[in-house]
Amino acid sequence: MTKPRTDLPDSAAAPSPADPVTGHANAVVGLQWGDEGKGKIIDLLTPNYDAIVRYNGGANAGHSVQFAGKRFALHLLPSGILHPGVLAIIANGLVVDPFALVKELDTLNQQNIDTSGLILSDRAHLVLPYHQTQDALREQLLTKDDTGRAIGTTKRGIGPAYAEKANRSSAIRAGDLLRPDTLRERLEHACRFHNTLHALDPDTTPHDPETIFRSLQPIAERLRPHITDTTYLLHQLLRDNKRILFEGANATLLDIDHGTFPFVTSSSTTALGIPSGAGIPGKHITDILGIAKAYSTRVGAGPFPTELHDDTAHTIRERGREYGTTTGRPRRCGWLDLVALRYSTMINAADALSIMLLDVLSGLPELKLCIAYEFNNQRIDRFLPDATDLARATPIYETLPGFSEDITSARTPDDLPANARAYLQRIEHFTGTPIRFVSVGPDREQTIDMQRA
Ligand code: IMP
Repeated sequence: MTKPRTDLPDSAAAPSPADPVTGHANAVVGLQWGDEGKGKIIDLLTPNYDAIVRYNGGANAGHSVQFAGKRFALHLLPSGILHPGVLAIIANGLVVDPFALVKELDTLNQQNIDTSGLILSDRAHLVLPYHQTQDALREQLLTKDDTGRAIGTTKRGIGPAYAEKANRSSAIRAGDLLRPDTLRERLEHACRFHNTLHALDPDTTPHDPETIFRSLQPIAERLRPHITDTTYLLHQLLRDNKRILFEGANATLLDIDHGTFPFVTSSSTTALGIPSGAGIPGKHITDILGIAKAYSTRVGAGPFPTELHDDTAHTIRERGREYGTTTGRPRRCGWLDLVALRYSTMINAADALSIMLLDVLSGLPELKLCIAYEFNNQRIDRFLPDATDLARATPIYETLPGFSEDITSARTPDDLPANARAYLQRIEHFTGTPIRFVSVGPDREQTIDMQRA
């Protein structure tokens, strides 16, 4: 089932930088704190592409995709994996749990999905069991501290695996799965460090490098045909006139540099992360589509100025099924923060927006949009990326009338009630960015292409 594709460019030949780039590289990125519905839009756009490429994060992401009448939850695999003939590329910028990856492949294969289009970068770093132990242990210690420092991670070992990458000497990459001597030596080195750290908790069992090595052998054999140098492959595809879509995971406000630090994930989640996370220069990337919900949500800890704790939050959570795809945690819900959205649009240079879950707002008597913050007795128009500052900022709202109509069967802009259209126009005006798609339900057909009159 997971045989590799045989129609790829010659993996021994190098594309010449002098050859013109005739293909297209576009991107879809989340503009809020994740779970915006990127999976649905990517699924919708995938038929226009030859390859869907992930460039950041790991199994902390959760994309739910409705495909052929079934709902799939993908964590590591690019959404393109569901489409036969499309390459699903995991580029160098990810941290990949190889056990989780094989499990995800197995699940899809059991559902008769052909996963032969998977390609895994030999440079992608591995998340191994000791990273997950460390992630859980850190969170546990920070929670015990009770100083509000726990991040509320997904406990998938993402932060510790990126830290291992930065530490270098004990890091293991996907390509090392195929080098048994290097793999064994690195596992021994890594376990020595991690076991010392894990000894902080007497309940933690030390990790045995030999056991991990042995359990990785069948995984390595399974993944062997899929592992390659994705950097050359992507450059070749662009010179072969192919179309590539980069699929951002997590989201802009969780970016390690540009998000609400320290309540962020450990990777470069924005379009700025594509060049380093996939080896494709920024100048080749065009048409960046930013995805945002018609309201805001956040999972885990961290500042969220427009968060609600009332009946409206409850309504949004239940109607929007706002429970984590990866962890099942209830998501925190609130009004749309236009200051944050404008910031994210700027950071990504988003060419257009896709506004998701607009139907969830139907029936609310009024809709609030955060248009500035009050901070230190001053009105601030800028997003405050420092978590302490942002936690002290209070939103200044503009209130628009709500709409009561059920919009789940709207298919054109004209099908939307005037108040819903006014809400969308305010978003466009404030962010200075046109809305390309509006989603009014989970199904593919429940999408309005705003540019198709
Ligand atoms: P980590 O990525 O597991 O280290 O978690 C760091 C923070 O990012 C936590 O608050 C997570 O809940 C959040 N996070 C990470 N990935 C996602 C995502 O795909 N959607 C929403 N939140 C995420």
